[in-house]
Amino acid sequence: MRGRVGTGVVALAAAPLLLAGCGDKTQNALAPESHQARDIATLFWWMMAGAWIGLAVVVGLLLLAWKRRNRRGFGRDTEGEKPGERLGWLVVVGAGIVVPIVLLATLFVVSDLFVIKTTQAPAATTTKRTVLVIGHQWWWEVRYPGTPIVTANEIHIPVRTPVRLEVRTDDVIHSFWVPQLNRKIDTLPGQTNAIELYADAAGRYRGQCAEFCGLQHAHMGVYVFADPPAKFSAWLAEQSKPAAAGQNEFLDHCSSCHAIRGTSASGDVGPDLTHLASRTTIGGLTLPNDRDELRAWIRDSQHFKRGNKMPSFAQLPSSQLDAIVAYLEGLK
Ligand code: CUA
Repeated sequence: MRGRVGTGVVALAAAPLLLAGCGDKTQNALAPESHQARDIATLFWWMMAGAWIGLAVVVGLLLLAWKRRNRRGFGRDTEGEKPGERLGWLVVVGAGIVVPIVLLATLFVVSDLFVIKTTQAPAATTTKRTVLVIGHQWWWEVRYPGTPIVTANEIHIPVRTPVRLEVRTDDVIHSFWVPQLNRKIDTLPGQTNAIELYADAAGRYRGQCAEFCGLQHAHMGVYVFADPPAKFSAWLAEQSKPAAAGQNEFLDHCSSCHAIRGTSASGDVGPDLTHLASRTTIGGLTLPNDRDELRAWIRDSQHFKRGNKMPSFAQLPSSQLDAIVAYLEGLK
């Protein structure tokens, strides 16, 4: 008993620390950074308030009934219609049938007017740019139609600009979700779905695949970087360039699965690596993108993300592995 109380005290004491993690607003649906996400959060708070009021009324009625029953005495015979019985039926029909129907109908109309309307697929004329995202087990391919740009897991958009986000899938159903910016959008085989991506403030927004899609569903993260216009233009220009001169080790071992524009590597099993070094993470946000992590990932990515399509390169001599890492690190 004493131990349990101790554990409880520790858990309570640790709660602020755990909640401090929530202070980083990233991937928090209740810290909206766009008008769509704000509408969703507002609807949530209204529903939450309504639910608490409903709960208070039900608990209040229960307590009232309990008190009256105690006053009358438990188990006393109650034959024939009592004066309060008519009122009881009115309460049952009113609070049990009429009130819920009115409340649910109101909620439906309100959510349709405000939330569904603002979060539906944008008309092509209202957005400035289209980004195409293709779900794979378990990473996101990102393309910018009209440019040669192909990247993975990290999307750049201009801040305070409506962007049309089109999603497809290469295999199973995934769901693209960046909670601070908009609702979820499913990627369905044979279909293209769209929502608008808009960010009020520059910064990095974390997102996550929100539909269970296999073993590494949890390691299918995505970042949206909302850049000031000048920074975004510079990023586009940089990403449009082909990669720096090729490296033989990479072409020998990696080019059947990965593409690098400007070289003969054109595989499409794994992510395009043309500007890999400009990304902050690897493996669908599984690891930070630095020299040691990249080396460890190439050597044995199954250790970090079991079941992904990349084979082990543990047998590769160290010198060749280093050459590949050095080459990739140069792909800014
Ligand atoms: Cu992709 Cu879950």
